[in-house]
Amino acid sequence: MQPKVKWSTKMSYSSVATFHTCAQGAAGGEILSPPAATRIEISSVFQRFAEAEVLCGIDLEVTQRRVAVVGANGSGKSTFARLLNGLVLPSAGTVRIDGLCTARDTKAVRRKVGFVFQNPDTQIVFPTVEEDVAFGLKGLKLSAPERAARVEAVLDHYGLGALRGQSAHKLSGGQKQLLAIAGVLITKPDCVIFDEPTTLLDLRNARKVAQAIAELPQTAVVVTHDLGLVAAFDRVLVFDKGRVVADDVPNRALDAYVRRMQ
Ligand SMILES: Nc1ncnc2c1ncn2[C@@H]1O[C@H](COP(=O)(O)OP(=O)(O)O)[C@@H](O)[C@H]1O
Ligand SMILES: [Mg+2]
Repeated sequence: MQPKVKWSTKMSYSSVATFHTCAQGAAGGEILSPPAATRIEISSVFQRFAEAEVLCGIDLEVTQRRVAVVGANGSGKSTFARLLNGLVLPSAGTVRIDGLCTARDTKAVRRKVGFVFQNPDTQIVFPTVEEDVAFGLKGLKLSAPERAARVEAVLDHYGLGALRGQSAHKLSGGQKQLLAIAGVLITKPDCVIFDEPTTLLDLRNARKVAQAIAELPQTAVVVTHDLGLVAAFDRVLVFDKGRVVADDVPNRALDAYVRRMQ
C-alpha cells in the first residue's frame, strides 16, 4: 500500500516538499500551507475521432488530490487524460481546470497541468539530462541563478544530480521516467497527469515512481493498470467503452473493475 499523504498538518507538507523548498530558496512562509487541490470540471464531454466515438458523455467534478483512472485497453483512458491539459480538445462539452476552459484558455491550462507520458522517450528531447530538464523553464521569466537553482534542486530530488552531464537517452528506463517527471515538476504545475507511468518499468523502478507520485504536493491524476499503485488514492474512475462505469473509493471501484474484467 502506498502511504497516504495527509495535508492537514504543516509538517506533512513541508516534509514532502523538499524540492519546492529548495527551489524557492525559502523554508517558511507560504510553502508551509499545502497548495489548494485543483478543481477539474468535465461537463457533457464527447470525443469523436473520425467516425469513432471514444468518449460518450462524461460528467465529472474532481477535487481530490489522488485520482486514478483504470479500464481495459481502448476504453478511452488516455484520451480522457489528454483532455485534462488541452492536448485533446473535446468534440462536444467543456473541460475546466480551476475555472479555465481547456479550449479557450489552452496556454494557461498547459501551464497549470503537467503531463507525464507512458514512454519517457516521447518526452526526452535534449541530449543531456541537465539540458532536458531545463527545457521546461524556457517560457518562464526566471533569472539565470533561479534557473540553475531549480535545475539542481529537481535533479537532486529525483536522484539524478550526479548524472546531469550524461546523455539522457543512455539512462535506464527508471531513470528516464524520473527525468520525465522532473522535467514536468520543474515548472511547478498545480496538477500532474500521468498516463501509465509504471507500465514500462521493473518492480524496483515502478516503486520509485510510485513514491515520487505519493509525495507530490500537487493534485495527481494517474492512468494505470497497476492496481496496487492506486490502492490508497482518494478516488478511482473505472472506464469502459468511453464511459465512466464506476466512480468510488479504491476498494469498491477496483472490485467493480476486477468483476468486469472476469
Ligand atoms: N488521435 C486519435 N485518432 C483516432 N483514434 C484514436 C485517437 N486516439 C485514440 N483513438 C482511439 O480511441 C480509442 C481509445 O483510445 P485510448 O484513449 O488511447 O484508450 P486507452 O488509453 O484506454 O487504451 C481507441 O480505439 C483508439 O484507437
Ligand atoms: Mg492509454
